[in-house]
Amino acid sequence: MSDLGHVHRFDPSERSDARVLLLLHGTGGDENDLIQLGRMLDPSAALLSPRGNVLEHGAARFFRRLAEGVFDLEDLRRRTHELADFVEGAVKKYGLEGRRIVAVGFSNGANIAASMLLLRPRVLQGAVLFRAMVPFEPEKVPFLGGVPVLLSEGRFDPLVRRKVAERLAAIFKTAGAVVTLIEQEAGHELTRADVDEAARWLAALPAYSPSVPPKP
Ligand code: MLT
Repeated sequence: MSDLGHVHRFDPSERSDARVLLLLHGTGGDENDLIQLGRMLDPSAALLSPRGNVLEHGAARFFRRLAEGVFDLEDLRRRTHELADFVEGAVKKYGLEGRRIVAVGFSNGANIAASMLLLRPRVLQGAVLFRAMVPFEPEKVPFLGGVPVLLSEGRFDPLVRRKVAERLAAIFKTAGAVVTLIEQEAGHELTRADVDEAARWLAALPAYSPSVPPKP
């Protein structure tokens, strides 16, 4: 489907209260890439899988970069809001109100999910981020009280150094998220251990109960 601002796939779940996995592919992927991963992570979840709107020499991405690991921050902000609007539109279109939306992002998809947690903290109620880096340093840390975030990083990843993963975990913790940082014996690529540990983490999530931000 190409409406709501993103070409996307939506696979509904049989259970009307099942969580929704928002699948966000890496550079060069598309809306089909992570469907199998989503099914492995949670066979009962609904799957919402958009394609990134940016093309880099023909490879789809969720936002522009100036070089590897150097992001076009203006474009990142714009595309993050665009994607958050897409999710909110999909919630209405597919009748997903009250369901827990958990982002599952890999690499570029993990980076825009991290950006969405920081810029639009009400849209996601959880995130599994594979090989995420700090998308930007927030001027103001949002309220993410109780939002569970799994960071699954690779010990030998040449793109995401340990310090960067720790900084991302620290930002989310300051925001009040419940962060789990794990490190795989891997590089930037996804491994079986990533999938198994993320599936266990998802299965152990408590039932969703929205938390209310403090009054300003
Ligand atoms: C990014 O551009 O988001 C990261 O460098 C990861 C990648 O997609 O290569």
